[in-house]
Amino acid sequence: MFNIKKLLESIETVIERLFIEEPEIRSRLKELACLAHDRKWEKMLAFPHPRPAIPALLASFLSSIQNANLVREMKQIEEECIDFTANLVGYSKNYGGFIISGGSTGNLCALVTARDFFLGKRVDNGLLTAKKTMAITSTAAHFSIDKAIQIIGIGKNNLVKVPVIPKNNWKPDINYLRKILEKQPIFAVIITFGTTETGTLEPIKEIIELKNEHHFWVHVDAAYGGMALTIPQVRRKAEGIEKADSIVIDPHKLGFIPYPSSIILFRDLEITEKSSSLTQQVPYFANGVSPPVIEGSRPAASATTFWIMMKTLGEEGYAKYIKKLQNITNKFKESLETLKEVQILNEPELPLLIFTINNRKAIIRQFLVELNKKGYHLGYSSNIANTGIEAIRTIFSNPTIKEETIKELTEKITCLIRNLI
Ligand SMILES: Cc1ncc(COP(=O)(O)O)c(C=O)c1O
Repeated sequence: MFNIKKLLESIETVIERLFIEEPEIRSRLKELACLAHDRKWEKMLAFPHPRPAIPALLASFLSSIQNANLVREMKQIEEECIDFTANLVGYSKNYGGFIISGGSTGNLCALVTARDFFLGKRVDNGLLTAKKTMAITSTAAHFSIDKAIQIIGIGKNNLVKVPVIPKNNWKPDINYLRKILEKQPIFAVIITFGTTETGTLEPIKEIIELKNEHHFWVHVDAAYGGMALTIPQVRRKAEGIEKADSIVIDPHKLGFIPYPSSIILFRDLEITEKSSSLTQQVPYFANGVSPPVIEGSRPAASATTFWIMMKTLGEEGYAKYIKKLQNITNKFKESLETLKEVQILNEPELPLLIFTINNRKAIIRQFLVELNKKGYHLGYSSNIANTGIEAIRTIFSNPTIKEETIKELTEKITCLIRNLI
């Protein structure tokens, strides 16, 4: 098995062979190796299995000095990664995509393109003279959407946030969204498929249907939830995603590979390239234009690592691991449900569970500190989707996790709560 002990032994050997003598560098390298595998609970990255994981790590190391734009061999690798994810969302022809560095830049690329598609040539004169326009998302959107809206000059006051309904598993209020659409011109609607704080799969179909009438760009932020499309039950909940104009999926989250690796997909690459101001004439590039993304140099490792994992696991392998994580999450939920002091706050759609302890802030804080001392790092959110509700947030991302570990964790939680209350 790929375990921390073996990893540390290998690191020791590498350190010796490379004649690294400085104690500070030696200990920092070992610390990095420990961090990579120690924090089972909170981190999104986790390697599922030694067979693909070690080659992916090697690929990350070997291709980290290459720029994907400049290496001819990379094109095919990148295209295969794009085809794999395009197939997951159901894009059939005219699509295109690029490996980029993260969900945040992916969301930004998508919104630049959406803005340029809506405003056309007017953006060339600056936004001060352009037509006023707005975008819609939900209060559960990742903060990268707020950043993107500011960067593209739309202004945060022109990003309308549809409230989510905690009792409806944190789904956005679609009637509220409909009313906004009736009132003002909207250039983009951003749907989150797998919200950061609650793992909610926001509905896509209802929003896509409104697109015919109101003509906005639909961007799906599936940075977290995208790889779960390998599971048929999750794919069914994504009905309509194949009609979204752009989609972001992060293999460095539920794709179990090293950072950075994200994918931006466009339903129609020709429209995107024509509209987006990110497409630039670059005479020294082989095809004379830059891809419509924020990055200039793009690390080849972002593609090679995903390619290896994708080739080894395939859709089925991914589905198996993510399902396992979902089962673990449900087991954890069931065990917490037996504690009267704990209130579960979501019905997990992805491997993410939120709960509270009698809604008592001081207790939650102390609980997390004590649990941390025991080596368990659960997450926390002070204001879930802007509802004022705070919660302990647990993301399961290591598919090698065992049921006994969940049992141990629940026992620790039970003891701690009983001592604190
Ligand atoms: C839903 C969602 N979108 C976007 C992002 C941003 O991704 P990155 O951290 O790779 O920029 C995150 C990160 O957690 C996320 O959960």
